[in-house]
Amino acid sequence: MTTKYELKNSVTGKATELDSISGTIGPDVLNIAPLVKEQGVFTFDPGFMATASTESKITYIDGEAGLLLYRGYPVEQLAEKSSFIEVAYLLIYGSLPSKAELEAFRSSITRHTMVNEQLLRFFQGFHHNAHPMAMVAAVVASMSAFYHDSTDINDPRHREIFAHRIVAKLPTIAAAAYKHSLGQPFVYPRNDLRYCANMLNMFFAVPCEPYAIDPVAAEALDLLFILHADHEQNASTSTVRLAGSTGANPYAAISAGVSALWGPAHGGANEAVLDMLEGIGSPKGIDTFLAQVKDRNSNVRLMGFGHRVYKNFDPRAKIIRGMCYKVLEKLGHNDTPLFELALKLEEIALRDEYFVSRKLYPNVDFYSGIIYSALGIPRSMFTVMFAIARTAGWVAHWQEMVSDPHMRIGRPRQLYTGPTKRDYLPIDRR
Ligand code: ACO
Repeated sequence: MTTKYELKNSVTGKATELDSISGTIGPDVLNIAPLVKEQGVFTFDPGFMATASTESKITYIDGEAGLLLYRGYPVEQLAEKSSFIEVAYLLIYGSLPSKAELEAFRSSITRHTMVNEQLLRFFQGFHHNAHPMAMVAAVVASMSAFYHDSTDINDPRHREIFAHRIVAKLPTIAAAAYKHSLGQPFVYPRNDLRYCANMLNMFFAVPCEPYAIDPVAAEALDLLFILHADHEQNASTSTVRLAGSTGANPYAAISAGVSALWGPAHGGANEAVLDMLEGIGSPKGIDTFLAQVKDRNSNVRLMGFGHRVYKNFDPRAKIIRGMCYKVLEKLGHNDTPLFELALKLEEIALRDEYFVSRKLYPNVDFYSGIIYSALGIPRSMFTVMFAIARTAGWVAHWQEMVSDPHMRIGRPRQLYTGPTKRDYLPIDRR
């Protein structure tokens, strides 16, 4: 049954009836479309605190319960039983693949990992200490100047080829950005390796000696990628949708998402967490640091804590914390003090009235950087790793939007507070 809401102008008495729309789970939404027509007012919601920007079948989050579902499947089950490639398939195609479908998808992704040789030359134009996110955003945008055979967004097969290409090539581009920063030769993808093992090889192999891929490292990366693969209408995904809604080239839309992800309030938090932990130094520094966080004038935040949607444990943070033990035991004793500091910081913050009253819990990025660091991935690459994983989600959302016959350009309105109409003054009269 549809619930009706009535919005009434208290001066004129004119009322507008608004219908609520129910999803399969989660809060109903109010269809406010009649408001402008009938009342001449827009809704005002800076930061989209109360706005559902779209309808979607991909990912569901219950922030109060700490629940995250990809196409209905709890992320905990996928983390335990699935692989990143299977999760990418699930997000993009909507259901779990059969064995044959999975093999065909894996093979297609594997065979699309090489990038056009000209594209690799772009890296020579970047300074050696350019931030890898800057290089990745630029090179992904440049992909729109290549691959002209598959950018008709109205053709489902073109969309599918685009989806496979971008998921396959992001690790190659990321690895090239890393190798460029080191001054080492690019390492080409290897078709005998799985997605994450191939990535580790492209990152860490050098032509002068063999490189042994550690299965624990590949497993940890795969887990992190599953957990980062999608998160409904977050800032970067909404950016991909908004850019894509104009009918823009899909690579350009993904590049817009990479740029949006970079900020410290979003994907850049994983890098900021390790900077923060290093700044705190040891458990002795925690109290002083938390006093700064709580000081309203300081602008210091406990990075990796808090989330717009989760007002409970981020389920991803719990899983990553568990993986930290395994990875550190096998690979990263150097990072153990940072992990112990993070555990202590979490424990103290979760007992502190400031964080308790605001429902601030560790988010996905509180522990992810510790794993990346133990795998030997430098801090400046952390957000790039996030971007590789989130590409699966971006593509799924872009596909969902573009294949909707009712797709419209995303075009928000505003509350204008600038000057009213005034006449131009010649310069000698100002
Ligand atoms: N440290 C200290 N205080 C915080 C933190 C934090 N990490 N996060 C929120 N708060 C406080 C705010 O100061 C505010 O307090 P007030 O009510 O006294 O003014 C209250 O909690 C609500 O915070 P908002 O900033 O209004 O919450 P919002 O939903 O806009 O922001 C965000 C969410 C950006 C994630 C925020 O919690 C934050 O900056 N966290 C740190 C950065 C981070 O970890 N980002 C990664 C998010 S997950 C991801 O994108 C992968």
